[in-house]
Amino acid sequence: MFAVVAIILIFLVVFVLKHVFGSSGPNPFEKDCREPLKKMVFDKKERNKVLKQGFLASKVPENLDAIIIGSGIGGLGLAVFLAKVGKKVLVLEQHSRAGGCCHTFTEKGFEFDVGIHYVGELLDHKPFRCVLDQMTNGQLQWAPLENPFDHIVLGPPENRRCYPIYSGKTRFPEELKKCFPGEEKAIDEYLRLVKKTGNGVWLLAMLKILPLPLAKFLIYTGLVKHLSYFFKMAPRTLADVVGELTQNKDLRAVFSYIFGTYGNAPKEASFAMHSLLTTHYLNGAWYPKGGSSQIPYHMIPVIEKAGGAVLVRAQVNRILFNQEKEACGVSVLKGQEEVHIRAPMVISDAGIFNTYEKLLPKELQAMPAIQRQLGMVKHGESGLSIFVGLNGTKEELGLKANNYWVFAENDFDQLVAEYRSKKREEAAKNVPLLFVASPSAKDPTWEERSPGKSTLTLVSFAKYEWFEEWKDGKVGNRGPDYKDLKQAFIDSALEVVLDVYPKITRDKIEYIDAGTPITNAHYIAAPRGEFYGVDHGIARFHPEFSTMIRPQTPLKNLYLTGQDVMLCGLTGALAGALNCGSAILNRNLHLDTISLAKRAKCSNNKMKEE
Ligand SMILES: Cc1cc2nc3c(=O)[nH]c(=O)nc-3n(C[C@H](O)[C@H](O)[C@H](O)COP(=O)(O)OP(=O)(O)OC[C@H]3O[C@@H](n4cnc5c(N)ncnc54)[C@H](O)[C@@H]3O)c2cc1C
Ligand SMILES: *[C@@H]1O[C@H](CO)[C@@H](O)[C@H](O)[C@H]1NC(C)=O
Repeated sequence: MFAVVAIILIFLVVFVLKHVFGSSGPNPFEKDCREPLKKMVFDKKERNKVLKQGFLASKVPENLDAIIIGSGIGGLGLAVFLAKVGKKVLVLEQHSRAGGCCHTFTEKGFEFDVGIHYVGELLDHKPFRCVLDQMTNGQLQWAPLENPFDHIVLGPPENRRCYPIYSGKTRFPEELKKCFPGEEKAIDEYLRLVKKTGNGVWLLAMLKILPLPLAKFLIYTGLVKHLSYFFKMAPRTLADVVGELTQNKDLRAVFSYIFGTYGNAPKEASFAMHSLLTTHYLNGAWYPKGGSSQIPYHMIPVIEKAGGAVLVRAQVNRILFNQEKEACGVSVLKGQEEVHIRAPMVISDAGIFNTYEKLLPKELQAMPAIQRQLGMVKHGESGLSIFVGLNGTKEELGLKANNYWVFAENDFDQLVAEYRSKKREEAAKNVPLLFVASPSAKDPTWEERSPGKSTLTLVSFAKYEWFEEWKDGKVGNRGPDYKDLKQAFIDSALEVVLDVYPKITRDKIEYIDAGTPITNAHYIAAPRGEFYGVDHGIARFHPEFSTMIRPQTPLKNLYLTGQDVMLCGLTGALAGALNCGSAILNRNLHLDTISLAKRAKCSNNKMKEE
């Protein structure tokens, strides 16, 4: 028996090594592309020349190698990888500017980000940092948040307890222990578990890259759970694991608060996903210098240099297929007319639901293999963002480069269940969970760009159903009832903010408005207003889901990229692009990024010695 297992294992190892190292495609990170820092461009007109290139059939380059639907980091990132190996790629974006969740908009002179508040894993020489440096020719810079970077506020207004969260592998537990004397063991054990679980994420990426039969072999033999603690812990809920560690309800909440960054309350969250987010910020948190639109702004020229283009106001209304059911192009709606564009491959960053339910012809959508994948996925949590423009500097208003997570109570499962069960008018009266941060205070270039002003962004969850009846209305003019409902959410959220930030007063507010789930549906094409794409609950981390939902689709020459094929977040969606690039270029780009990071570290050490 042992001999058989040993033979299988040896066979497996050889096969894996061959697959992993026997790569044949070109490496996008071959050459160091970083250039000396140029002066940052703040002029709106100059920036729009890059970010807002409107679609015209005449602007479509000839002899395309690929078409990418959607200009989020998953789409642009992949386009950059392909451009770096000389491919001519067209990226099509439905909104009027490029960037997806990384786009920014300006109202009354205040610039706001849509979906980037803080990003982890960006220490110099860490793989994601090195990749982002290469993707932007070294022009994208990151500003660290303060330490503590997060503050958790628990309880009702008359009894709010505040807990600071520090980054740093030793600082994180040390500071928690100061807040929770007697809980040292629970805190150490929590950290041990999240690290061990988070470290196992490599297998999630591998399951999506390995040939299907091999990945299935790992699943059905149960080897996945032995090879990686990630999959061992994936079926356990956050509530379950944390419940075993401590009886202290505030500490349980502090261990769990980061669920807000992926959307599943502790009873539904997988401890594996939770571990990833906790470890994500363990070495610090950063904000893109100059705001999140710097990300697309510095990537688009790389795509153009290889002959490609990034065009906006280009809504793809269907993917084109030939007789053999192979993707061969897309159709873009231009007014009432369809413009057909051909390419040998089509990649979608628009998410699984949009791609399969809106962009495929009915008969292909009905294919059992497509239906099977659709049967595995669920829409993620939708939400609400409130954008506030303030008169005053960060010093005057007491704003810092950090975030507040404010919860009306420490039992998050109960809090979420109660909130979700309410009628919309009731829910609006009392928003029980709120993320609050000042993007302007995080950005060292802000003072120069908008002297004397500041911004705040508030984020909470909100049910799509609460707003659904207005979904077909016109943006900016959905009627008085919609406006009233938005105002009710704004008013109750503002109460919380004025309490947590005592230096902010109502007379300082120059601009305030809210984006609802139907706003998300409009600007980022999230079908039900989802913040983070496909639901990140337990089911998503079943090894079979992890294997089946991969860049290759059941349809030839059609691929998926972005958050739905890996995980949410800037780095999650970028990892999705790495997965997709691996499939297309037939090499393991994750390993390439690791060796890129090693090279960067070596060359930097050499520079230090000299
Ligand atoms: C409010 C909010 C806060 C967040 N905060 C953070 C944070 O602090 N840190 C972090 O790391 N992550 C955060 N995230 C998550 C992160 O922004 C996303 O997970 C990630 O950017 C998703 O990238 P993507 O490329 O997969 O998708 P997206 O950025 O959503 O891009 C998809 C693009 O496809 C376009 N599209 C869809 N259909 C079509 C079509 N038919 N034709 C043409 N174009 C189409 C859409 O318009 C969109 O631009 C946040 C998200 C939200 C919403
Ligand atoms: C901003 O505040 C200053 C005083 O602090 C005031 O003079 C100015 O008029 C205010 N601007 C607006 C637009 O309210």
